[in-house]
Amino acid sequence: MTDEQSRAPYLERWLAYLAEGVVPFSTPGHKQGRGAPPEFAAAFGAGALELDIPHDGGTYDTHLPTDPLDEAERLAAALWGAHDAVFLVNGSTTGNLAALLTLSRPGQPIVVTRAMHKSLLAGLILSGARPVYVVPEVDEETGFLLDVAPEAVERALQAHPDATAVAIVSPTYTGVTSDLRRIAALCRAYGVPLFVDEAWGPHLPFHPALPPAAIPSGADLAVTSLHKLVGALTQGALLLVSGDRIDPARVRAAVAMVQTTSPAAFLYASLDATRRRLALEGESLLARTLELAARARSALGAVPGLRVVGPELVARRPGAGFDPTRLVVDVQGIGLTGLEAKRRLRRDFHVAAEMADLLSVVCLLTVGDTPETIDALVRAFAALADEACRRGERANGDPLVRLLRATGPIVAGAPQVLTPRDAFFAPTESVPLDRAVGRVAAEPITPYPPGIPVVAPGEAIRPEVVEFLRAGIAAGMRFNGASDPTLRTIRVVSA
Ligand SMILES: Cc1ncc(COP(=O)(O)O)c(C=O)c1O
Repeated sequence: MTDEQSRAPYLERWLAYLAEGVVPFSTPGHKQGRGAPPEFAAAFGAGALELDIPHDGGTYDTHLPTDPLDEAERLAAALWGAHDAVFLVNGSTTGNLAALLTLSRPGQPIVVTRAMHKSLLAGLILSGARPVYVVPEVDEETGFLLDVAPEAVERALQAHPDATAVAIVSPTYTGVTSDLRRIAALCRAYGVPLFVDEAWGPHLPFHPALPPAAIPSGADLAVTSLHKLVGALTQGALLLVSGDRIDPARVRAAVAMVQTTSPAAFLYASLDATRRRLALEGESLLARTLELAARARSALGAVPGLRVVGPELVARRPGAGFDPTRLVVDVQGIGLTGLEAKRRLRRDFHVAAEMADLLSVVCLLTVGDTPETIDALVRAFAALADEACRRGERANGDPLVRLLRATGPIVAGAPQVLTPRDAFFAPTESVPLDRAVGRVAAEPITPYPPGIPVVAPGEAIRPEVVEFLRAGIAAGMRFNGASDPTLRTIRVVSA
């Protein structure tokens, strides 16, 4: 790694503020902790609050010759192999909004994965673009979401030659990556930029055993959450611009529209320090994480009734990949739903998993794990399995699997009547679920699992969707985005 990557210009300037003994008459109003609630200051640490300073007027001020943010972002761009990098302080959410404001035009088609995070949907509403959804492959056996097939992207581009861009999510929440090289090549052939929501892949460029990352695979724009997996503070993320099909100035203008005007300097400092650590030690840190993940996989796989999902999920999908640091533990064999297993892991064993669906529990292994944390995880799962088996608990897996398998076909056929923006701004009314058939949805309904919006604003609601939602409620699915989470009623565009 080059010498310049061993510098952390933002971190240094942030620390220099403290040494300078500044008397602040600026935000934040707690004035280095003196005005903060004392019990909070005591819990957080006085030293930490002294360093909660602003960027403008703090780490950067007009009397200083340079803005350390410029240098820190340049170093991040160089490390990720991009032309430009923008530090984000409200997670990849901000990057997704800015990406869609950059890449779409009101009323014009944009090819978007249907398995989008809700911030991509918010970007569609802000921009007014007309989404052409591509639906990822779904694993036959488990119902897990897989990759977005390059063939599906090509079909969408052929059918919509006026599409302004392609936007996909890779890796998925459960660690599956798409064949980004082929998708990027297709985008080049059709003359459209590729945006990858790589929120779950900030570590990918730093170890050869991990699937290829978005920018080196040819993406033009990518967002990645450094806070999720590689040691940055919560909310720290990066928006990366590559190639010459996207104007970095437009990307920056879009970020400036949706990001706070009061970024916490400590978030920028954390991104800068994380970039330096990844540059200097990324490969060895990830080698250790991968080793711990392998150990956890084999220990959990040896617990009767548990199955740890692995790369076999994508074995028949050429070009797709799997991130082995994502521990997806199928708990059907111990007679619990994933949701119940997650709840008990926390309540009875004080182990907090990342998420759960009907069949599995997802745990993230990161550069912060140690042999001790892995042992705690394995012990908790083993005790949970033992307890559940002794009680003879039986979740009826078959209907759950059938329900999960139904998701792909259900979302694939949804007729788009209005753009998400037109549906969002239209006059709306709440109707009982039974009476929603044929109406145009005004809100997204996203069941967990597997996180694909079964209903997106602007789509006509079909009878099979209503049936699916009813079965989902009965099976204990939870719904995100609906104004009535019980789904007794849903919001539709007024007739
Ligand atoms: C695929 C995907 N994209 C974007 C985001 C948003 O990331 P953040 O929480 O960093 O804003 C998430 C969050 O979980 C996500 O799963």
